[in-house]
Amino acid sequence: MRFDVIVIGAGAAGMMCAAEAGIRGRRVLLVDHAERIGERIRVSGGGRCNFTNREVGPENYLSRNPHFCRSALARFTPWDFIARVERRGIAYHERDHGQLFCDDTAQAIIDLLRGDCDEAGVQWAQPCAVQRVRHLGVVGEERFEVETDEGIFRTTSLVIATGGLAVPKMGATPFGYRLAEQFGLPVVPPMAALVPLALPPEMLAQLKPLSGVSVAAAAQAPPASPEFREAVLLTHRGVSGPAILQVSSYWQFQAATGAQGPVHVDLLPGEDAAGWLAGRQRSRALLSTLLGERLPRRFAQAWCALAGGDRPLDTYALRDLEALGDRLNAWSLTPSGTLGYAKAEVTLGGVDTDALSSKTMEAREIPGLYFVGEVIDVTGWLGGYNFQWAWSSGWVAGQFA
Ligand code: FDA
Repeated sequence: MRFDVIVIGAGAAGMMCAAEAGIRGRRVLLVDHAERIGERIRVSGGGRCNFTNREVGPENYLSRNPHFCRSALARFTPWDFIARVERRGIAYHERDHGQLFCDDTAQAIIDLLRGDCDEAGVQWAQPCAVQRVRHLGVVGEERFEVETDEGIFRTTSLVIATGGLAVPKMGATPFGYRLAEQFGLPVVPPMAALVPLALPPEMLAQLKPLSGVSVAAAAQAPPASPEFREAVLLTHRGVSGPAILQVSSYWQFQAATGAQGPVHVDLLPGEDAAGWLAGRQRSRALLSTLLGERLPRRFAQAWCALAGGDRPLDTYALRDLEALGDRLNAWSLTPSGTLGYAKAEVTLGGVDTDALSSKTMEAREIPGLYFVGEVIDVTGWLGGYNFQWAWSSGWVAGQFA
């Protein structure tokens, strides 16, 4: 059977792309090997899907080419997606940092995309595994042959929307990377991102009893990461929470360039901790008692133990208090690694943007071959940015495929 467009991967980007191509009158087949479509959407945002963010720009993404995402994000913006959400009558609300969530379940977003595909006449092969893709050449209507469980299909345009490697148990595969390599396209080595960080055993031994304690802090992965002022959560294996997930992407990104250093956590963001401690030098209170005014008490005690002891403030020299204050403003953690794809939200790296047109998502050297969504080397911050990239890149490819 022959199609104008075959999209492999019925996640966020694939469904958006298929619907858009279908609206243009293209004969579209959407193929996915999973039993249920949109699994990542279903579990996202704690089941409420943080489907976009009010403020989206290239600075919210990591990529070897930080400008690549600019065009697609400008052509299909958060407001374009919000308009679709409102048209379907899906109730939503805003949380901190401009993050938009469904009031009810994430299923509403899957239904929206499925509805758009159905209205655009998209055909489905799902669940259906892809065995092989063959390039038939660049001349003529039928450029690709896709061999699947349901038969062999030929198509003019082939869109790869198979996502990244995060959470393998939800159907993630390296299909997109392998296919890029089959066509000679470079792939930036994938790594887990938005992922909890593991701590070395000696540090973990002291912090483990605090598992579950959350601190309102600000984290940063010098030299390149911005500061993320959000919660840091201590876990039985290391650190997590939104601030750590955000910096984990930068920490991993810097590993690839050899610039990976410690992660800094500011435990008293916005406050000159050295000055605050120096002002209490005459107090007889224990250091941990004073810190307990601003930090969870158990955490304050463990932090003092890590910092070399816990004594009455009036027994410290001024310069020692100032040094402790500096450490409070930049508590330095050297992760031993990450918790890997099983606990990651996204994948850093992917199909190298140098090989793709930022206007169409088409491979520069292979007419008719497109990549959309997370499979590309564009990785968003936590906060709805990854779905927005899926919508924007899927929409753009849908106008050309
Ligand atoms: P996506 O992974 O959605 O879809 C890929 C599809 O391809 C899947 O349906 C899969 O079955 C299919 N596939 C894979 N290999 C295949 C093969 N070999 N053959 C056929 N089909 C194949 N982002 C955000 O912005 N806000 C949020 O709230 C969250 N929350 C969140 C929670 C959790 C737990 C995770 C794991 C991730 C998030 N994310 C997120 C990230 C977001 O889910 C992710 O970036 C997008 O789903 C990426 O969309 P894609 O369409 O590119 O891939």
